[in-house]
Amino acid sequence: MSPSAHASSTVNPIQWRDDRLVLLDQRLLPGAEIHVDCATSAAVVTAIRDMVVRGAPAIGIAGAYGMVLAAREAWQRVGPAWRSDWQDAVTALREARPTAINLAWAVDRLVLAAQTLDGDPGLPLLVLAQQLHAEDLAANHRMGQLGAALIAPGSTVMTHCNAGALATAGHGTALGVIRDAHAAGRIERVFATETRPWLQGARLTSWELSREGIPVTLITDGSAAHVMRAEAVAWLIVGADRVAANGDVANKIGTYGLAIAARAHGARVMVVAPLSTFDPATPDGSAIHIEERAGEEITTIGGQRYAPAGVTAYNPVFDVTPAALIDVLVTEAGVIERPDRARIAALQAAR
Ligand code: MRU
Repeated sequence: MSPSAHASSTVNPIQWRDDRLVLLDQRLLPGAEIHVDCATSAAVVTAIRDMVVRGAPAIGIAGAYGMVLAAREAWQRVGPAWRSDWQDAVTALREARPTAINLAWAVDRLVLAAQTLDGDPGLPLLVLAQQLHAEDLAANHRMGQLGAALIAPGSTVMTHCNAGALATAGHGTALGVIRDAHAAGRIERVFATETRPWLQGARLTSWELSREGIPVTLITDGSAAHVMRAEAVAWLIVGADRVAANGDVANKIGTYGLAIAARAHGARVMVVAPLSTFDPATPDGSAIHIEERAGEEITTIGGQRYAPAGVTAYNPVFDVTPAALIDVLVTEAGVIERPDRARIAALQAAR
């Protein structure tokens, strides 16, 4: 692909500055671009849990920096006995959100590295966190090129939630593909679902794409099947929070229904996810812990309640799309057509 087909985003959601983690507060976008400083590992846990930072790779990277802060805090408290002192902080970071495996993956990478360290762990763990951060950006650019090459010129595509620069180290997974495909003249129009209740599609995806001149049209979640049929959507392109060993994919609630609708309307389904989102220890989608959040996220908007008092709300925030509904899985190590257990194992073995 020609160099002009490379697109890049200026959105920078995660930074390490002056010994602290600086996060773009995604709860306030697109209305305000405010940064939140996290100077302690506890502040990082809160930021992940409260969705200041969100998106599977992004919470993994934030968690890695949280581990650096946790190690520094433990070293300051107890010196060489720091490894027994940081356990509670490690658990709190690992469990801040349960579905996206990138968080546990990143925490475990730092725990493993910590086992062989001598002396003050702050600097070596910071180097590793920065390495994971840089690797995620590189993976997104690679996936963007691989996924874009699958899209025919002039296509209409649909995406769900926000799998963009905001959800990663930059560029994005699904939106990385859309950025590169648009730069290569392959995308004419992008439909973005609003993504109730946090409105990641309405607030974040449409912000990321429109500020770069990528033609995005916002739709309600409920109109997606109608739009697929009426507008000849060629691809549904989404990210993932966890890919099980058999290729089942957990992603933002609604993805499963969109994949069923895509199959019914001849749209192909592309899941774009770095290897840090793959979990060989999860045999299939039924073993994935689906995060459930407070009912108030559904019964209120902007802090104002509109559902009747006392009504019960059920708010699972992810669902599982069976591998059989996925046409291609795009990773930085290559593309898997019709993903299944054997093809995923083969790709991982080849790494
Ligand atoms: O609840 P969120 O906003 O963290 O959910 C994010 C998603 O479901 C994304 O699609 C997924 O993490 C992939 S991000 C590259």
